Amino acid sequence: MAGIEQQLPQAFSPFTIGPLTLRNRFIKAATNEGMSPDGVPSRQLVRFHAGMAAGGVGLTTVAYCAVSSDGCTLPNQILLDSATLPHLRALTDAVHAEGGAVSAQITHGGCFTFTKRPEGRPLSASGGFNKIGLMSGQYLKREMSLADMRRVAADFAAGARLAREAGFDAVEIHMGHGYLLSQFISPLYNKRRDEYGGSLANRMRFPRQVLRQVLEAVGEELAVICKYSITDGVRGGNSIEDGVAIARELEAEGAHLLVLSAGMNAESITTMFGSSFPPENRSVVTNPVMKAAMFVQSLVEKPILFRELYLLEHARKVRAAVDIPSSLLNARRRPNLRKRRLRRQKPCAPCRAEVTIPGSSGKAVRRANC
Ligand SMILES: Cc1cc2nc3c(=O)[nH]c(=O)nc-3n(C[C@H](O)[C@H](O)[C@H](O)COP(=O)(O)O)c2cc1C
Repeated sequence: MAGIEQQLPQAFSPFTIGPLTLRNRFIKAATNEGMSPDGVPSRQLVRFHAGMAAGGVGLTTVAYCAVSSDGCTLPNQILLDSATLPHLRALTDAVHAEGGAVSAQITHGGCFTFTKRPEGRPLSASGGFNKIGLMSGQYLKREMSLADMRRVAADFAAGARLAREAGFDAVEIHMGHGYLLSQFISPLYNKRRDEYGGSLANRMRFPRQVLRQVLEAVGEELAVICKYSITDGVRGGNSIEDGVAIARELEAEGAHLLVLSAGMNAESITTMFGSSFPPENRSVVTNPVMKAAMFVQSLVEKPILFRELYLLEHARKVRAAVDIPSSLLNARRRPNLRKRRLRRQKPCAPCRAEVTIPGSSGKAVRRANC
């Protein structure tokens, strides 16, 4: 460890985002761990994040905490309500006991949901046919009214307050990957003709309102992070130039840190992961519609070979455009380190868990699997 610290002193130095100072620049990214049956974080999830802190990360991110029940995409995701509060408190206490900080990713899935909603059509920036709903029988989505937007923005602020009460050090607003706020930002989903659609500034209006309300609710005490897709990675979606403009908008609104991701869950998953979907993952899918969709996708998709640091070029453009710090995902794998680690221990999570280093001012932007 001492060797690595000497090679990368900046990565191990404290780092300040808004009101929060991290012990180092390693951030465990949000990866929905599937350890929250019925929306309640389990002991397994507590151990998982405490393990991240014990392993040394500065900040670990608890993935996909829905701000309302209609914001869940799957049944086993955390719902930010009074029932989960004591469990979240146990989680943040366990992370703090290991000297780490912990962030709650607060989010709403919009029309990207596999759970059938008793409230009716899932919400989105615009209404109409809902291709995601093919799997859950929700074939139509509903355009959000101004009252819907007020309600959802208030839910984000309430979710952030609940996170503060539960002892979190930061909240990460999920604005990427095709979830609700991303559905506003992306022209693929946003076809509105009012002041919330059209130009990028208009498409950013609702996400900015959400950010403003979250900052007003907790920004003095908690770091407020925005994760978004710097490119949608698909024709008709946001380009990297748009991604740079989005960063400027989020900076103007007062975000403390940008987490730079890419791609959309449904349209461009390869952009998110920088590689083709592994065939072995296709074979475990049982839903017939999903199976058919994946088969078609496997026929049309160009194979993409993983390239280390594949988002670095894009991320540098964002970093040159704004003064607030940013954090890079999908950075670097070092085969030798990885081999050594695999000999020593079993993989620590069923998914790929990763840590990232905010690369705001330094040159080093690396990643190590935990
Ligand atoms: C199993 C799995 C679950 C994920 N769940 C989430 C999630 O809940 N929220 C999120 O923002 N990103 C999620 N991601 C995306 C990661 O945070 C990250 O953006 C992505 O894995 C790309 O980085 P990488 O190439 O370093 O893995 C998930 C990724 C994986 C592999």
